[in-house]
Amino acid sequence: MSDEKERLTDPDSQLEDRIDHALRPTRLKELIGQDSVKQNLDILISAARQRKEALDHVLFYGPPGLGKTTLAHVLANEMGVNIKITSGPAIERTGDLAAILTNLRAGDILFIDEIHRLGRAVEEILYPAMEDYALDIIIGKGPAARSLRLKLPKFTVIGATTRLALVTSPLRARFGAVYRLDYYDQPAMQKIVKRAADMLKVEADTEGVAEIARRARGTPRVALRLLRRVRDFTQVRSDGMINRLVARDALDLMAVDELGLDDVDRRVLITVIEKYNGGPVGLATIGASISEEPDTIMDVVEPYLLQLGFLERTPQGRVITRSAYEHLKIPYTAKDNQPRLIQ
Ligand SMILES: Nc1ncnc2c1ncn2[C@@H]1O[C@H](COP(=O)(O)OP(=O)(O)OP(=O)(O)O)[C@@H](O)[C@H]1O
Ligand SMILES: [Mg+2]
Repeated sequence: MSDEKERLTDPDSQLEDRIDHALRPTRLKELIGQDSVKQNLDILISAARQRKEALDHVLFYGPPGLGKTTLAHVLANEMGVNIKITSGPAIERTGDLAAILTNLRAGDILFIDEIHRLGRAVEEILYPAMEDYALDIIIGKGPAARSLRLKLPKFTVIGATTRLALVTSPLRARFGAVYRLDYYDQPAMQKIVKRAADMLKVEADTEGVAEIARRARGTPRVALRLLRRVRDFTQVRSDGMINRLVARDALDLMAVDELGLDDVDRRVLITVIEKYNGGPVGLATIGASISEEPDTIMDVVEPYLLQLGFLERTPQGRVITRSAYEHLKIPYTAKDNQPRLIQ
């Protein structure tokens, strides 16, 4: 990232990570929202338990902070199995993966975060491992080389990615279940904030909770972070009780607006509007204009703007919609260079 300022959607710092860890739901019934994913997982778990088999391989995808890692832990708890955690970039060599695989026990879960970043060669080891529970290793070199097939216990891969499009199709095909995590709705967000406030022993009234929930861009991680910051603000500036007014003042001070847009979101919108007449403009150009990684824009900024209907992806590039102009209070002039939006 270009500036030092930490974003609300960034993965957690070590301290925050520890707090989040303590707040992390551990069982399926503790999980708030994502009802259809939960129902599907419930069936998957029950079926595997009845057959006394390992869980099917599961792939979770969706924007950061919606609960992919949490769900992987919940599945391990529900199945009563061990979970081994790794990530695409952490498995550099095929030997690394072979070592992980040979240490798994029957039923164990191997959680691979950022699975779209697995190297090609490593991925090829994973195919037979997932499909046939087999590990092919080559012994020797040249004409004397021979391949040896080791049997692996039946285990489960849980993959997580913010970029489904970058998961190769052979890998995707090996997952029995693929679930998309969506932004949480307001009632679910309120429950998440309330639950966290209770667990952290923070006093907050219903309206204070609702205000934080509303500005957390449908993302539990953001909600938890806003709650902590509002708590600090309340402690210093008022009597310690979070109500609507203090929540609003604290969030305004953090430059998080009523829809949960932060500084980077606004910079993306305003830059495209001011420099490129609202688009269409390519992602790389936007990134260069605001000195932000295109990956960050694609993973964190865009999904939420798309969800709000503030941005559209067209074959020519990104286009800012009329509602974004209205939200930013910038006069909208119909443009010839952009697809007319049906209102
Ligand atoms: N359904 C939920 N109910 C309550 N809290 C939740 C829920 N989902 C996530 N959380 C909280 O939000 C935090 C972030 O979730 P998690 O780390 O699982 O997200 P993630 O999707 O893995 O994000 P990333 O893509 O950045 O890895 C967790 O620490 C957890 O406390
Ligand atoms: Mg995660």
